[in-house]
Amino acid sequence: MDKRISPASRLEGSVLLPGDKSVSHRYAMISAIAEGKSKLHNYSTGADCQSTLYCLRGLGIEWTKDGNVVEIEGRGLDGLRAPLANLDAGNSGSTIRMISGILAAQPFTSTLEGDESLSRRPMERVMKPLREMGANLEARDGKYPPLTIHGGPLKPIEYTLPVASAQVKSCVLLAGLFAPGATTVNEAIVTRDHTELALREFGAEVTSRRGAITVQGRPTLTGKELLVPGDISSSAFFLVAACIIPGSRLLMRAVGLNPTRTALIDFLVAMGAKIRVVDVKSTGGELVGNIEITGGDITGGTIEGATTAALIDEIPVLAVLGARSRNGLTVKDASELRVKETDRIATVADNFQRMGVTVETAADGFHIPGGQKFAAAELDSCGDHRIAMAFSVAALAAEGDCTIHNAEAASVSYSEFFDTLHALRA
Ligand code: S3P
Repeated sequence: MDKRISPASRLEGSVLLPGDKSVSHRYAMISAIAEGKSKLHNYSTGADCQSTLYCLRGLGIEWTKDGNVVEIEGRGLDGLRAPLANLDAGNSGSTIRMISGILAAQPFTSTLEGDESLSRRPMERVMKPLREMGANLEARDGKYPPLTIHGGPLKPIEYTLPVASAQVKSCVLLAGLFAPGATTVNEAIVTRDHTELALREFGAEVTSRRGAITVQGRPTLTGKELLVPGDISSSAFFLVAACIIPGSRLLMRAVGLNPTRTALIDFLVAMGAKIRVVDVKSTGGELVGNIEITGGDITGGTIEGATTAALIDEIPVLAVLGARSRNGLTVKDASELRVKETDRIATVADNFQRMGVTVETAADGFHIPGGQKFAAAELDSCGDHRIAMAFSVAALAAEGDCTIHNAEAASVSYSEFFDTLHALRA
């Protein structure tokens, strides 16, 4: 689908974001292996979280979905059934990597596959620890989906993450639920901790101390009624839009404010954005609150080290902000961007070039000088949801109409994105 976007003079209004993608995946997977029914409110409407539900159905889990409310009949730790066909994770790296941890412990063989993009993404990062735990795994060329998992009894391990990855951490912790004793994951850089929080909510014993996260195996998990917070990563598109379109004023309601995700807000405030976070409450172990933004005078900055890991999903849209900032944006230590839904260093650079924007790329990041104009251009998501949305935001500040090719990719995490963006035009 092509989407034509004309420049905006001002954005105004309030936004209720879709449920957080990361939290939705975890709640669904844990509900499936819990005892009894779970009811998940504000479950992500994106295609990725739907892929998780389809994979669970393939494993014999019954669920219903009414709008964004999902009810899942949990079958306990030992209740999954051998799938009759390959499990399709679609575009979703979170689905394939996290569910692998559960499948590694099953007394059956299963194969996970995905779309063209997912079929190019590396899986050794989960294959290695799961093999250490005792599972047998095969992948195309030893590393790409389809991923076949011959499950079986697992033993607990202590595993140090070689890359900062919440998906890998979660995979090992989920596998650890099935292993007798304590499974520990050590992380040098803190990554999002939704799995730890969710497991505790469902009744598992999880401790977290100075980068060492330990789960006790064979817990009784109990079905829960939970609310998925609004997706803070999706809020980034509107926050940046409000910063680059003068006179904008937006309110984002019920946004997830888990401290492992709020580096976005800290970074924007440090860049000069005028943001207020209000009405913060706790729900299901997660923090939720409202974010108000009234633009700002954006200076520019550098994203590196642990901050890169904390902002990894937001970097494409922060690049758009960087190009409009006074001093520009430098991103370092971000080689992980090369193995996302697309090579995001390349797809950001390609779209900027189409808009006449200067960007210097490196193996692990890029530098974008500030104060640049965006020429009207034909842009392309290349099938990547965050590229579709980041460059739709860029198009709002362009000097004429832009067309985004393959704009439907946005629905991987945010089906309502274009309608919401349209409604905010003052
Ligand atoms: C996610 C972790 C991150 C992130 C992805 C979602 C998660 O991936 O980019 O969108 O839900 O755990 P990595 O674990 O590969 O860093």
